[in-house]
This record gives sequence, C-alpha cells and structure tokens, in this order.
Amino acid sequence: MQKVNVFDTTLRDGEQSAGVNLNTVEKVEIAKQLEKLGVDIMEAGFPASSKGDFEAVEKIAKTVRNSSVTGLARAYKQDIDAAWDALKHSAEPRIHIFLATSPIHMQYKLRKTPDEVAAIAVEAVKYAKQKFPLVQWSAEDATRSDKDFLVRIITEVIHAGANVINLPDTVGYTTPKEYGALYDYIQEHVPNIDKVILSAHCHDDLGMATANTLSAIEHGVQQVEGTINGIGERAGNVALEEVAVALHIRQDYYKKKTRLKLDEIKRTSQLVSKLTGMVVPGNKAVVGANAFAHEAGIHQDGVLKEASTYEIITPELVGFSSNRLVLGKHSGRHAFKERAAALGFDLGQEKLNEAFKAFKALTDKKKEVTDDDLFAILAEKQTDA
Ligand code: KIV
Ligand code: ZN
Repeated sequence: MQKVNVFDTTLRDGEQSAGVNLNTVEKVEIAKQLEKLGVDIMEAGFPASSKGDFEAVEKIAKTVRNSSVTGLARAYKQDIDAAWDALKHSAEPRIHIFLATSPIHMQYKLRKTPDEVAAIAVEAVKYAKQKFPLVQWSAEDATRSDKDFLVRIITEVIHAGANVINLPDTVGYTTPKEYGALYDYIQEHVPNIDKVILSAHCHDDLGMATANTLSAIEHGVQQVEGTINGIGERAGNVALEEVAVALHIRQDYYKKKTRLKLDEIKRTSQLVSKLTGMVVPGNKAVVGANAFAHEAGIHQDGVLKEASTYEIITPELVGFSSNRLVLGKHSGRHAFKERAAALGFDLGQEKLNEAFKAFKALTDKKKEVTDDDLFAILAEKQTDA
C-alpha cells in the first residue's frame, strides 16, 4: 500500500494558536512524543522569529533522530541562515521556505508584482539549496492564487532545486473538489512535478480541513501537514489524527497509509493539550473524551452485544483503554445491569428493577450518574428487607 508522509507542525503552526506559548523544555517533550508517534517530519519552529524559537529548534534537531526535523523561513537570506544554524545538526536537515502567491497577498502584504515574487522565490530556493539537502517550498495562500501563476512559479522553484512543493489552503477557503482539482492541474501542467513530493496543508476556517486533506491525498499528494488536536492559527490546522485514522479505517477506499503508531495518538493528544493549555472538546473526533462514550440505551445495548454496531474505530486502536457507557437519562437496563454486576451486585430481577427505577429517578436530577451514586442505590436495595 502506498505511504503518505506525515509532516507535523504542532510546534510551529500549532504554537501559533492564540494564547499558546511553549518553552524549549515543553517543545522538546512534545517533539519526543511526536517521534514516538512516528511522524515523518516535524516542523519544530521558526528559527528567525525569536531567540527562544531558535534554541528550541536547535535542541530538537540535536535530540530527535527518527523523524526529520525542519524549520520555517521566509524567502530571506537571514531567515535561511538562521534555519541552517538551528538545523545543521539534525539527522536530515531540511528547510521550509514560504512566499505568498495570491493576488491579495502579493498586492497588499508583499507589495510586489508576480514577476518579483517569482524571482524572490527562485533566489531563496537556490540559496537554501547551497546548504540544505532538502528544500520545501510553500506557495502561501495557494488556494486563492492564479493557477497559471502557480504553474509558472512551481516550475521555476523546482528548477532551482526544491524537493517538496506545498500548496497551503492558508485561510481554509477551499472545498474538497476544488483542492483536488488544483493538484490535478499542477500535476498536468508542471514539467518534472513527478521529481518532487507534493504536499497539502489545510486550515479549518470552514470546518473542511480533514475533507480537503483527504481529497488532496486522493489527488496524488504524498505528504500531509497538520497538527495534533487540530490546533493552529484561527480555527486551526487539520487534525493529523483524523487523517491518519480515516486512512486506516477506510483503507478499502483510500488504499494509502501513514506510518503513525496509532495507539500513541491519545497519549500525544493529552500531552499537547496539557502543555498548550488547549482543552480538547469532548466531541472531538478520534481523541475527544466522548469519542468512545455511549449514552443512549439502544446504543449501549448494541455495543454490549457487539461493539462494531456503534463503533467504527476501536478505542484501543488510538490508545484509549476502553469505551465508556455513560449512565444517564437515556440509558437502558442492559447497561445498568452490566454496571451493577461490575460493581459486584447480584440482586435478582425484582430488586434490580427497583434499583433501576431509583437510578432513572436520579437521572432527572443529575446529568451523569457516577459509580458512587450507583453503589449507594444498589447497596440500599440489597439491604432492603
Ligand atoms: O498556512 C500556511 O500557509 C502556512 C505556511 C507558512 C506554509 O502555515
Ligand atoms: Zn498554516
């Protein structure tokens, strides 16, 4: 089965989440866990952006051996030099240079013409290539760029030595069909595109980052970029755990896989959440506390008979110890009886029915009935004459 490389940018784009600031010790701890998770590439930071980021990238480059470490750089010599100084001791030094290509960004932010932008991109890639064996070039805001300008600039940066071409959906604007068509167009029109790795980088402003990334995979990208828990600028980046698990669960459809150790996902998610202070919503796909929780009686009954009735992912696959049957007002007798047995009660049918009634009465007052509540109800019925 074909492999898709995972490029994790939790420590760079993820750290750009409002209110998040990781120190070097915290970044190294996350980097080690990302290495354990098996990411192919990790973007450790933006070395030219601050002394702290430089130090963190340098430390991670010296520490991590089983993932390739990269750093972000604008298309300036001083950024490329800073990235080299931070990354030169890494196992496989690589740099990630970006430059905006959309009319909006070129006109208002860069104040440059398309010709000037193309020349700057080529010069930066050539300069980086004198130092780095691997150079990734990103067309910032690619999805709002002119396709034929993208064809031109990508052709030129490949000629200048770029090894990876990334077309970010910087503002989360594209749709799955449109993003797939962009990769088709680039592959049809750029000579030598088969000599480079094509990468996808999606933001989640319209809630389509996972769908867009999967579409890019269907349209031939060999690398996907994202973060753990989907943290990142504004509404965040694509959540890598969602993409990796979707590829795994729907192998029949995608026929592609990552080399992530899926059972390290939950641990990685918890560490990133703890160190960034960004709480994972309960209903977050794959890693949320409710991702394997069942409350409705019909669902609980189904899961107790055969888990696959309502679980397409086993909790163990992604590192949860088990699923969770939440006892609340929608729960039924089957789950209640199982929990009573697990708590060591064997009451007989009549007393169990009474206990179930008492439990139901309590659910009108409490959202979730705890084991302590159940214990009290069951113990009272057991001692009733
Ligand atoms: O979203 C984006 O365009 C980026 C670039 C720096 C690659 O994060
Ligand atoms: Zn981004």
